[in-house]
Amino acid sequence: MRILVSGGAGFIGSHTCVELLNQGYDVTLFDDFSNSSEEVVSKIKEITGKDLKCFKCDMKDKKALEKVFKKDKYDALIHFAGYKAVGESVAKPLMYYENNLFGSVNLFELCKKYEVNKIIFSSSATVYGLSENMPLKEDAPLSVTNPYGRTKLIIEGILEDMAKAEKQFSIVVLRYFNPIGAHESGLIGEDPNGIPNNLMPRLLDVVRGKAGCLMVYGGDYPTPDGTGVRDYIHVTDLAEGHICALRYAFSGFTGIDAFNLGCGRGVSVLELINTFEKVNNVKINYKIVDRRPGDVAENYADVSKAKSILGFTAEKTVEDMCRDSYRFCMKKENMK
Ligand code: UFG
Repeated sequence: MRILVSGGAGFIGSHTCVELLNQGYDVTLFDDFSNSSEEVVSKIKEITGKDLKCFKCDMKDKKALEKVFKKDKYDALIHFAGYKAVGESVAKPLMYYENNLFGSVNLFELCKKYEVNKIIFSSSATVYGLSENMPLKEDAPLSVTNPYGRTKLIIEGILEDMAKAEKQFSIVVLRYFNPIGAHESGLIGEDPNGIPNNLMPRLLDVVRGKAGCLMVYGGDYPTPDGTGVRDYIHVTDLAEGHICALRYAFSGFTGIDAFNLGCGRGVSVLELINTFEKVNNVKINYKIVDRRPGDVAENYADVSKAKSILGFTAEKTVEDMCRDSYRFCMKKENMK
């Protein structure tokens, strides 16, 4: 079975390619490498000892994309490609709409033309907006707080309309909570271009001396220690979630269904810092500062739907996530 993976060199895409190859799928990935590196492809091969096909392709370029579709018959698409920085999307909304929306429409049109009827879409818990009713269930009200989130919600809507209009599609939408960690080999992990926004890459910048101090945004939230609570999930667990979603798409189900992928447990910023210090035997220089605009106190998933229908449960602990993130970061530093 051959799976087409868009954005397969990115953080979650690369770990999913490893899992797909390990479980015997044939993989073709394409990526424009705007926020990833071609080196990742050789690392995927090194980890798995298996070969995969790779194309450099921008999904906005429909002609180039069609060449990828003509190369092989694909049984499913896993669609990761897209810009993903919340702050950048606020500053450059049109760039986000052009890339994420036009690119996705091109991709879905080609899926229709070449009969790639199983689609797994990489969505985000951002589609729940600023909801305060935790844990979040898939049927919670959806809303947006920034252009990035709007692209995810619009793409979910496009897929819903496709599933209504064309009965041959089986579409699985996966709403990720906070993916961190890295492959245990230390060969692939999160490697954002520029200054990162998210907690773990920023924490790693402090550990390796690229930043002096980690700003902890808010110490006065109504949470057990006053800092923000999130549902962190190890990226290799998340990758496994995609395999479960593929199996579901091939199980005879048609239409569209959405699932939360998280651990279902809230972890505070201070808890994450303390765990990181303990398992890696390092000290993190941090300071509690004002809240970051747009942040909610708590965000964590109800994971019962993924468990009962997909048979998916995240297994790795916060300790594993901290250990693996650190290993990847130090390995990269030592190679410089
Ligand atoms: N935080 C800090 N300091 C930092 C960065 C983050 O204290 O330098 C805190 C935040 O305030 C929050 C927690 O760490 O409490 C996690 O923040 P992240 O930026 O890592 O993640 P978010 O939960 O804000 O955002 C993530 C994804 C978004 C997605 C959102 C909703 O990055 O793409 O989850 O699911 F939209």
